Amino acid sequence: MDSLVIEGGRRLKGLVEVPASKNASLPLMCLSLMTDQPVRFSNLPQVSDILSMKALLASLGVHQESHGHFHSAKLKSVRAEYDLVRKMRASILCLGPLVARWGRAEVSLPGGCAIGERPVDIHLKGLELLGAEIKLEGGYIHAKANRLKGCRLPLEFPTVTGTINLMMAAALADGESVISNAAREPEVAEVAEALRTMGLTIEGEGSPEIKIQGKQDLNGLDWQIQADRIQLITYLAAGAITGGEVTCTPYRPKSIDRVIEKFRDMGCSVEESASKILLSAKPPFKPVNIETAPFPGFPTDAQAQFMACLTLGDPEGGFSRIRETIFENRFQHVSELRRMGAQIRLRGNLASIKGVSHLSGASVMASDLRASASLVLAGLAAHGQTQVLRVYHLDRGYEKLEEKLTALGAQIRRVPQ
Ligand code: EPZ
Repeated sequence: MDSLVIEGGRRLKGLVEVPASKNASLPLMCLSLMTDQPVRFSNLPQVSDILSMKALLASLGVHQESHGHFHSAKLKSVRAEYDLVRKMRASILCLGPLVARWGRAEVSLPGGCAIGERPVDIHLKGLELLGAEIKLEGGYIHAKANRLKGCRLPLEFPTVTGTINLMMAAALADGESVISNAAREPEVAEVAEALRTMGLTIEGEGSPEIKIQGKQDLNGLDWQIQADRIQLITYLAAGAITGGEVTCTPYRPKSIDRVIEKFRDMGCSVEESASKILLSAKPPFKPVNIETAPFPGFPTDAQAQFMACLTLGDPEGGFSRIRETIFENRFQHVSELRRMGAQIRLRGNLASIKGVSHLSGASVMASDLRASASLVLAGLAAHGQTQVLRVYHLDRGYEKLEEKLTALGAQIRRVPQ
């Protein structure tokens, strides 16, 4: 298991080309199950979650002559094996397309992960409303349907992958479906835009209500995936925590407004243009209060990165507070940050952070994708050397992280274990 070794205390400066979004890529790849035409992406990222999804689609019989090219004229299986699904929970995104186009699916229940229990009950309830018969047996979801029938799909919670799964299922159903309380994330909107390009009549993406006119045969797709806004936020946070100046491109205006607000409240300067965003900063930061929420609220995927920055708040400035409302166990980075000298108090889903003058390098353990990113950020700012262990967590969602940080002036290297 590789680790990253970081010599902290260097100000980062420069431009980062942000790779395509992991959380948009994963559902977009599943569109290849919904048409017998080729589905191609010009910039599919090379991170391990994408490779896991490629392996899953290959196990179903989706032909992939090169990276980013998919073609499912016929399938050899409708079974998503536990061994593949347990490595990558977003495998659940093949469920809707399989049931809608092939009438059957056997998908392993994803189970929980480090950050929470991660149920899929809303996905399953929506598929039943569309007319699928769902049985849970032996740790698998057994789904079958002759023809899905469009209907109203009220969601208990604006689940991101739940909204996408049901959008894809409804796309091939007979008649109109209306998803209410839909997730509004830019990644959800991008899947809707791709479906429209494939010939589907769909409207309302980005709002709480998405209307879909089901259609039998969808065209293929040639697509460029939007930049990963969470990786972008992480690089801006690297500029902030080291007191540097970082520019990221491409940048989609309105994709991270609440995050920009918080950077500015902390005392960072942020300048946006149509395709770039620049952040410059000088710790100590002013204390801020953050509460994670579904889009357009503050993204839970940026919570750990902000916590790392806020450990360097003004020691005389009082407490910053972060309330995590989306996942029940998304503070695993706290104990590791404390080992670097951070002053963080936890009470339930509320973290209170008192600024310290500096962090000290240490050996720390990554536990999940975004927690690992926060430990790297802390290491970039800390005095001395930090070793982040188990960086396979990072490799799930960050492409060439150490190369990009080195280009900004960081002293960071990967040590194969
Ligand atoms: C997506 O996960 C993202 N993953 C997550 O990113 C992200 O943190 C999350 O959305 C929230 O923005 C992908 O897009 C692949 P949810 P998802 O369904 O769809 C409850 C990362 O770091 N819920 O919106 O699984 C659930 O318990 C990852 O890149 C149900 O109760 O998140 C949770 O509390 C981590 N029943 C809340 O909704 C359901 O059927 C949010 O889950 C589904 C969800």
